Amino acid sequence: MARLKRIYLDESEMPKQWYNLAPDLPTPMNPPLGPDGKPVTPEMLAPVFPMNLIEQEVSMERWIDIPEEIRQILFQWRPSPLVRAYELEEALGTPAKIYYKNESVSPAGSHKPNSAVAQAWYNKQFGIKRLTTETGAGQWGSALAYACAQIGGIECKVYMVRVSFDQKPFRKIMMQTWGGKCVSSPSTFTQAGRNILAEYPDTPGSLGIAISEAIEEAVSDPSGKTRYALGSVLNHVMLHQTVIGLEAKQQLSKVGIKNPDVVIGCCGGGSNFAGIAFPFMYEKVNGADIQIIGAEPFSCPTLTKAPFIYDHGDVAQMTPLLPMYSLGHNFVPAPIHAGGLRFHGMSPLVSASLRDGLMEAQAIHQSECFEAGLLFAKTEGIIPAPETTHAIASAIREAKKAKEEGKEKVILFNFSGHGWMDLIGYDKYMSGQLSDYEYPEHEIEANLAKLTGYPMPK
Ligand SMILES: Cc1ncc(COP(=O)(O)O)c(C=O)c1O
Repeated sequence: MARLKRIYLDESEMPKQWYNLAPDLPTPMNPPLGPDGKPVTPEMLAPVFPMNLIEQEVSMERWIDIPEEIRQILFQWRPSPLVRAYELEEALGTPAKIYYKNESVSPAGSHKPNSAVAQAWYNKQFGIKRLTTETGAGQWGSALAYACAQIGGIECKVYMVRVSFDQKPFRKIMMQTWGGKCVSSPSTFTQAGRNILAEYPDTPGSLGIAISEAIEEAVSDPSGKTRYALGSVLNHVMLHQTVIGLEAKQQLSKVGIKNPDVVIGCCGGGSNFAGIAFPFMYEKVNGADIQIIGAEPFSCPTLTKAPFIYDHGDVAQMTPLLPMYSLGHNFVPAPIHAGGLRFHGMSPLVSASLRDGLMEAQAIHQSECFEAGLLFAKTEGIIPAPETTHAIASAIREAKKAKEEGKEKVILFNFSGHGWMDLIGYDKYMSGQLSDYEYPEHEIEANLAKLTGYPMPK
């Protein structure tokens, strides 16, 4: 039988509902808390997000319909292909079957438009005219600028973490091409930005700072027609990404695989990991034996070294306290090239999954990741985003383990994005200019000491 490289679905087979993990968690979620330590009400979030998305954020429905207008836009690239990595398998000499879900085929080059399109659509339905947001690597900012262009009638302003803004000028041009506006963060547009610049004029910036700026701009618009959009972390973002895993399940079943043995995603704020993993956690909760791995950088070891606490999502403490693994909201990460994996916290749903034993976490150094990225590019052809190389490196580790054990495991990972705008990182790696960096324990302790007195999740 001829070997099948790519497994496709028809447009009619694209999921019509998203999957919400919250009702299936073994232990109920801790609620987000306000400054007084009491659970936040939907009304308290209303200046920041439209009410239709807040409803999704707190929903305990297992399945939520995807509006047909959103599906029509997702058809610009979805269903995305599931690809068997034969050439990578051969190079590794592994008996494992490696599959990857190729999310790099979206217009912005990553999984991020899955949620950007949905968020722009719900905001438009609610009468919003302008969205503000942050971006780390530039993928989310590009995705939201693209989504606003597709939906029409919504302006988009993006605060891009300074180090990425300087490293990746083409991302800014992409955002402008779709009609968005992109500025370097910290900026002088907001009080949060001005405060940081006064204290640390040379700061490389962080996602926590950029989030503070974007929220401040949204809530201070006197017209009330501006809202903030977040590219990861929150429950509704995880929800929108589950199309990835739901499609992958159908695609695997077309080649006779009910469940993979291993599912892997890289973890920044948690959204592409949740997208591929949550539909398989549903199977796991219902008895399937699946190993689910979140891969993160040693330089931002949220899942592997941080405690499960209540913390803010941003530096200026504008977000509610979220129950999550966190390195402390004051964390300013080393400027490693995987800009999208430098967030101090982790999605509360992904955090709850780790706490409940539905997944495990691995920290990987960037040199191992870039090496994996080069091997992937040479074998499978696509140059991966630096974030994605963490998932590839983890998949390679598991494939080597399968070889040692002589097991024909099925490994599925999320190919979250391509690296065409990240070539400076590759250049630095290939010319020997990148070094590995492990975030020191004493810095984590110093950050967390500043959170004394915060409530603790159950
Ligand atoms: C290609 C790619 N993969 C992964 C991530 C990490 O984000 P998340 O954990 O929300 O998927 C990013 C973030 O910018 C990204 O651009």
